[in-house]
Amino acid sequence: MALWNGGGGAFPAAAVLVAAAVAALLGAGVGATKFDDVVQPSWANDHMVYDGDLLKLRLDANSGGGFVSRSKFLYGKASADLKLVPGDSAGVVTAFYLSSAGDKHNEFDFEFLGNVTGEPYLVQTNLYIDGVGNREQRIDLWFDPTADFHTYAVLWNPSQVVFMVDDTPIRVYENRQNATVHGHHHRSNNATTSTASPPPFPGPQPMAVYSSIWNADDWATQGGRVKTDWSHAPFEATFREVRVDGCAWAANATDGDAGEVRRCSETSWGKEGRYWWKEKEMSELSVHQSHQLVWARAHHLVYDYCVDTDRFPVQPPECAGR
Ligand SMILES: *[C@@H]1O[C@H](CO)[C@@H](O)[C@H](O)[C@H]1NC(C)=O
Ligand SMILES: *[C@@H]1O[C@H](CO)[C@@H](O)[C@H](O)[C@H]1NC(C)=O
Ligand SMILES: *[C@@H]1O[C@H](CO)[C@@H](O)[C@H](O)[C@H]1NC(C)=O
Ligand SMILES: *[C@@H]1O[C@H](CO)[C@@H](O)[C@H](O)[C@H]1NC(C)=O
Repeated sequence: MALWNGGGGAFPAAAVLVAAAVAALLGAGVGATKFDDVVQPSWANDHMVYDGDLLKLRLDANSGGGFVSRSKFLYGKASADLKLVPGDSAGVVTAFYLSSAGDKHNEFDFEFLGNVTGEPYLVQTNLYIDGVGNREQRIDLWFDPTADFHTYAVLWNPSQVVFMVDDTPIRVYENRQNATVHGHHHRSNNATTSTASPPPFPGPQPMAVYSSIWNADDWATQGGRVKTDWSHAPFEATFREVRVDGCAWAANATDGDAGEVRRCSETSWGKEGRYWWKEKEMSELSVHQSHQLVWARAHHLVYDYCVDTDRFPVQPPECAGR
């Protein structure tokens, strides 16, 4: 099931459940119904395709495609059960991401970079804070992401942003705005200058959930050397589920609405129940999750902007101590 959970949204969870149940009884349109209540095409409507219970985004020589959630949310968890383009997907990028609106937007990205048949995808993650990105990390995966569905998720609360693959954290961005700023005496280079101000953290802007597929053969695969082979089009990424468990932003509120910020930031309960993603145990990784993160990064990290001194002679403040 694809569901929104949380108060204030245009599509209360109960209504979604009823709609899906009716469609199931009629034995038709189940897939369309369960996704339609949560997402809508964001461009090239005919490149978002229903196939039974599944939703596909299609790239061909004419266009890519994408969807956007019908509601926004502030804090929570968004996930997709996704099977990536099989076979030759060189040049093709599929993205699943959360984004707020405007010049100073925040954004949390998963970008799946395709490859030639038999060669591994890369998963690039990035965070934009107040309109500034350049925080790329890349991992390869411990499974073939084209063979079956896997769950890609972002958890976001006032303490951390966590990127997860099948519940294994692969990246954590902590809120260290309250942390005491220490000098790094052991460093001899100018990286210390960046620790003067605490690292930024995404503020309380409501996010929508997006996905898209497009041609990025100028950079995506093996540094842009391998181009999209259009004889293998259409390229299709397949969704089994898109889920958002978050504090749904009131449909009639502006993005800056102080009442909505307060409702979603300060309370642990909403109209539809507990805001579990803001509970104390969600403010940091569990010991088990910390071990998983260490494992994932030790074995699967292939790029980290934090240690890319060519790009960043001065280490970004959030990278200090890494
Ligand atoms: C930062 O400190 C303020 C004031 O003490 C507190 O309300 C807030 O929860 C803290 N934030 C984090 C992420 O710890
Ligand atoms: C920082 O680097 C500049 C040259 O890039 C150098 O002149 C300066 O002394 C350095 N400052 C510190 C505190 O290391
Ligand atoms: C594609 O495969 C090549 C060769 O194994 C590898 O170097 C590269 O990282 C893979 N992924 C992408 C997105 O280029
Ligand atoms: C939105 O609508 C609800 C009820 O329909 C109302 O209570 C609330 O004040 C409205 N909020 C805004 C920002 O207009």
